[in-house]
Amino acid sequence: MITMKDIIIEGHPTLNKKAKDVNLPLTKNDKDLITDLMDYVKNSINPEISEKYDLRPAVGIAAPQVNVSKRIFVVSFYNLDGILYEYALINPTMEVLDDSLIYLPGGEGCLSVERETEGLTPRYNEVLIKAHRYDIASDNLVKIEIKLSGYEGIVFQHEYDHLEGVLFTEKLYPELKDAKPAFLIKDDV
Ligand code: NI
Repeated sequence: MITMKDIIIEGHPTLNKKAKDVNLPLTKNDKDLITDLMDYVKNSINPEISEKYDLRPAVGIAAPQVNVSKRIFVVSFYNLDGILYEYALINPTMEVLDDSLIYLPGGEGCLSVERETEGLTPRYNEVLIKAHRYDIASDNLVKIEIKLSGYEGIVFQHEYDHLEGVLFTEKLYPELKDAKPAFLIKDDV
């Protein structure tokens, strides 16, 4: 099981490296990693488990954050409308559909950033993610395309940045004049 001791912190070179494409089909090791990452996110929002193992709550985590430089990330969260976004994505690509800018008013957070940060991180209003999606329960890999905007788009862009070797702390601004706020929330991603 992944705990905080497995998560590497800002300053570790892997976090600033572009992650490598995963060879398909997935190996047993890759599948185990994906399952562990998804378990971390789910455990982290379970009050009993997160307290017992001292886990910081998160809505997503990327493989480079556990020092595996592969293009894999997982997310699990409900959006404002109560819709569950639970994805384990392999080799995602991202296309910008609407380049107007949005941001989380409280600022973003990250499991790999332990210090307090101030500032806003600009994200695109709408993106298209193409990827292979691994379904852990059925052990199936399917190609998907998802359009994402608002808060859910911000989460996916934050995770995608991890695969590009970019932390949100490299994109912090005191104010963003031409950007619109997404709703008020602060989650670690
Ligand atoms: Ni992060």
